[in-house]
Amino acid sequence: MERDIQRILLHHDQIAERVRQIGARIATMYDGREPALTIVPILSGSIIFLADLIRELPLKMKIALVQVSTYPGRSVEAGEPQTLIELTGDIRGRDVLIVDDILDSGRTLRKVREMLAAHEPASIRIAVLLRKPNKAPSDVQADFVGFDIEDEFVVGYGLDFGDHYRNYPHIGVLRPELIQ
Ligand code: IMP
Ligand code: MG
Repeated sequence: MERDIQRILLHHDQIAERVRQIGARIATMYDGREPALTIVPILSGSIIFLADLIRELPLKMKIALVQVSTYPGRSVEAGEPQTLIELTGDIRGRDVLIVDDILDSGRTLRKVREMLAAHEPASIRIAVLLRKPNKAPSDVQADFVGFDIEDEFVVGYGLDFGDHYRNYPHIGVLRPELIQ
């Protein structure tokens, strides 16, 4: 796995520090809110970020899952996002925080936000670990962002290529020849 990574973009320690900062801001935002916050992670890319982030939140909270597939197979060409799991919990009248690994074209988050809005939550906000700023569209804004990165294909810390590399602890740039 290690040898498929061209360079480390964000080291695990750097990510952990930033996740602590975002966690503190989220905790301040939702402190004392009733009913308790519902976190909606978008599977599967958000799982590592989710696991670290929620342990920085000293809040009562629930988790409801959605699963959306953007890149069928090993392609890096984003297709229309396909919903694989619709929503595993009741969010009506609740504050919702969508958590995803990366805001790229915004299609995934736009689709999930629309899907959730139909359930009439009290509020919807978005937290992403990464954002590719040159591509993020103006109608899909993230409220909490870990890092703005260049338009390179990255893997690790939950992000995959062909469903691999999610367990790589850092965020790294894949060797370009593997993506051809
Ligand atoms: P969007 O719908 O184009 O915003 O893409 C969001 C989804 O595409 C993310 O949840 C990721 O699963 C995937 N994605 C986008 N860019 C990358 C990348 O650089 N590496 C790995 N996955 C990515
Ligand atoms: Mg993915």
